[in-house]
Amino acid sequence: MSKTRAVIPGSFDPITYGHLDIIERSADRFDEIHVCVLKNSSKGGTFDSEERIDLIKDSVQHLSNVEVHHFNGLLVDFCDQVGAKTIIRGLRAVSDFEYELRLTSMNKKLNSDIETMYMMTSTKYSFISSSIVKEVAAYKADISAFVPPHVEKALKDKFDV
Ligand code: PNS
Repeated sequence: MSKTRAVIPGSFDPITYGHLDIIERSADRFDEIHVCVLKNSSKGGTFDSEERIDLIKDSVQHLSNVEVHHFNGLLVDFCDQVGAKTIIRGLRAVSDFEYELRLTSMNKKLNSDIETMYMMTSTKYSFISSSIVKEVAAYKADISAFVPPHVEKALKDKFDV
């Protein structure tokens, strides 16, 4: 029987407990999960791709069926490359919906074979985003409830200049 394989794409700048929640729950339901750092042309970057990948890898060490990648191109082309026909995205609130609809519709136009599935982020993480965590980290606030300890350290180092 062929393996069930899904891609979890994102900017992950940096990974938060919200992302990790989606990755862990997906890893429970698919044979293989491919987490992929891609470029979002409307966002700047705090961490470079290598740093983002290292932070993700350190966060998913306990998940044996999760691989972490970086791809410089279209998400649907990455899906082809790893042989995945499912994209998983986390949905936090109604405000995410419009953006996600545009993303999914474009990906469907680019490759109608690929389905996007949405998973509701656990309510305790529903207000977390990488940008809001970075904003409070820049003011040296406690971010330990939002990101794993190694990400907290990386953010502290980044903003401690
Ligand atoms: O975490 P994000 O920023 O919401 O993730 C968005 C991301 C990176 C998945 C999206 O911008 C993306 O797929 N970028 C790669 C380029 C692409 O395929 N664009 C077409 C879909 S709009």
